[in-house]
Amino acid sequence: MPAELSPIDKAKFVAAKRAVDFVEHGMKVGLGTGSTAAWMVRCLGERVREEGLRVIGVPTSTRTAELARQVGVPLSTLDDVKWLDLTIDGADEFDMNLALIKGGGAALLQEKIVATASDQMIVIADAAKEVAQLGAFPLPVEVIPFGWQTTKALIEETLVSMDVLSRDVTLRMNGARPLITDESNYIMDLHLKRIGNPRQLALVLNQIPGVVENGLFIDICDVVVIGHADGLVTVRDINAGSEHDDRIEFAASENIFRDMGD
Ligand code: 5RP
Repeated sequence: MPAELSPIDKAKFVAAKRAVDFVEHGMKVGLGTGSTAAWMVRCLGERVREEGLRVIGVPTSTRTAELARQVGVPLSTLDDVKWLDLTIDGADEFDMNLALIKGGGAALLQEKIVATASDQMIVIADAAKEVAQLGAFPLPVEVIPFGWQTTKALIEETLVSMDVLSRDVTLRMNGARPLITDESNYIMDLHLKRIGNPRQLALVLNQIPGVVENGLFIDICDVVVIGHADGLVTVRDINAGSEHDDRIEFAASENIFRDMGD
């Protein structure tokens, strides 16, 4: 086991490693964004190189595309493949219904389009991402730059009638400037602390002109793979109503750690 990996990275790695077992020859796979998804891309690259696994990846961000190229995962675009067998992605929070908050990495728009265009979505996460109720993690909402202050005011006004505990809305910054997404939009972070009705909030937010998409993923995720630092992984399938544990051996993956550039 590599000494330099933190417990959280070990948990993310084992979740990613287990999820990549779901990928079969010939599959078209949506590749998520974030630090957990980056482990998944590395593990998938290892299977492509060492087993000759034939897959086509559709990345959800420029940085995922870059990593996939580095590790040898062949890529295409959603417009070329049109529909995917599977998407594997991280999440900022998930609840018992596998409703998610996503967008901590500012890629929620492409992530939601790609996951929705997939037969199955698998979320990979460390155990700390599981919550009784969504909302402690600020909810990302992608908005177009034009008139963003008006859109912000409309979001704040909308939140008054929503079942949430707090209503602060902030524009996500990248240093002194607003953060720009891959689709050239801005991200608003909604500090809600608790979201009483995620389904209603997701629908209402998307009615606001200027809002492109929100980070609530409802009825999209099918399976969550939860990783623990000791190598234990729990696979929970919401459709089958099943849950089982597996164990991942770190020693078998030393090539990945050796090849890591970051
Ligand atoms: C990016 C996302 C990520 O999946 C989410 O932020 C989790 O990231 P990490 O795996 O780094 O904790 O939604 O937009």
